[in-house]
Amino acid sequence: MTSLIAGNLDAGTSPLEQLPIERLRARTSMKWRAYPADVLPLWVAEMDVLLAPPVADALHAAIDAGDTGYPAGADYALAVRDYAALHWDWHGLDPGRTAIVPDVMMGIAETLKLVTSPSDPVVVCAPVYPPFYAFTKSAGRTVIEAPLGADGRLDLDALGNALAAARAKSGRAALLLSNPHNPTGAAHTRAELQAVAAAAARHQVRVISDEIHAPLVLPGAQFTPYLSIDGAEDAFALISASKAWNLAGLKAALLIAGPAAADLRRLPEEVSHGPSHLGVIAHTAAFRHGQLWLTSLLASLAANRHLLSELLAAHLPQVRYRPPEATYPAWLDCRALGLHDPDTTTGNHIVSDLAGPARMFLDHAQVALSSGHVFGHGGAGFARLNFATSPAILRQAIRRMGDAARAQH
Ligand SMILES: Cc1ncc(COP(=O)(O)O)c(C=O)c1O
Repeated sequence: MTSLIAGNLDAGTSPLEQLPIERLRARTSMKWRAYPADVLPLWVAEMDVLLAPPVADALHAAIDAGDTGYPAGADYALAVRDYAALHWDWHGLDPGRTAIVPDVMMGIAETLKLVTSPSDPVVVCAPVYPPFYAFTKSAGRTVIEAPLGADGRLDLDALGNALAAARAKSGRAALLLSNPHNPTGAAHTRAELQAVAAAAARHQVRVISDEIHAPLVLPGAQFTPYLSIDGAEDAFALISASKAWNLAGLKAALLIAGPAAADLRRLPEEVSHGPSHLGVIAHTAAFRHGQLWLTSLLASLAANRHLLSELLAAHLPQVRYRPPEATYPAWLDCRALGLHDPDTTTGNHIVSDLAGPARMFLDHAQVALSSGHVFGHGGAGFARLNFATSPAILRQAIRRMGDAARAQH
């Protein structure tokens, strides 16, 4: 197996083809350590890339200078402000209305504590990134699901109903949005977000927009910052370089308050103790100097998005896949394989909880995917595949999955 996808690859090739599999297997992070060595891991959202050179240079410089103390200053916010102006034509980010938080999910948990009270409802658009459920529950809040449409996009009627139900339960309800949406890869349009903002205002529900995948919008689609929408002035957004530049191990994210979100002032000082100085340096360098590398990555992801369609058509024609507009999870509709219990949804345990198709592909194809049922309502029978890997690994994984599916019948 290894020989097909091993070898020494040039530095000039795609960011997704610079690491032979034996070097990936030597990694100590979650993606490559959670499963035995014969498993191809296409699950958690880590990418099989080297660091963007400007990010590596910034980290090397900090290490060489012994610059490893506590974070200070507004460089991260300024870098995101300038990135947003250049790439999204959004000029409304005021660094004075931001806070550096340890990571996006911790930032979300802290923001939920600002805008809601214990046991208040939080609306999520299901299926969605499972920690939206886990973090909401561990903050003592309750989840109300607004199912997405069959096209994997926001269903504005369902969302309106969920917001009304949330508001009926409490005067302090929140909507937690994934913009773009993980796992369906929908890049919400300006019109969709305007409708969300209007509905949130109508029901007096505060919006928190998780924009961690924003720099990863693929050719053909566009990212719209939620805070750039009229009517979103009292919302919060969270952004980080961690998904686009593979920096999850270097903790730092930016919480951004809209001009009417005065609650930011109540963010406890302790939260600023979480982010790491090296994280801030790395994320700042990514937003400031990482675009050349990111452009190359996006081209490679777009190629893999297309390759995956071809591979599925050839080896797993029962599996339906709508190529995502943004980011690198592919949301595979495996319901036609008949392997799932339609009632199983947990909204929890992305790491360990495997059922239905993901269980079968792990056991019989030695390919690790994320199990759809943990993404909440509408997830059972789906599996999420991370295609931020080399075409060679992708080819081998889908071939193996096709063989395993055929052997089931
Ligand atoms: C939508 C979304 N939010 C948050 C995260 C996690 O971000 P962090 O590690 O900064 O908490 C992920 C990771 O994949 C994600 O997909």
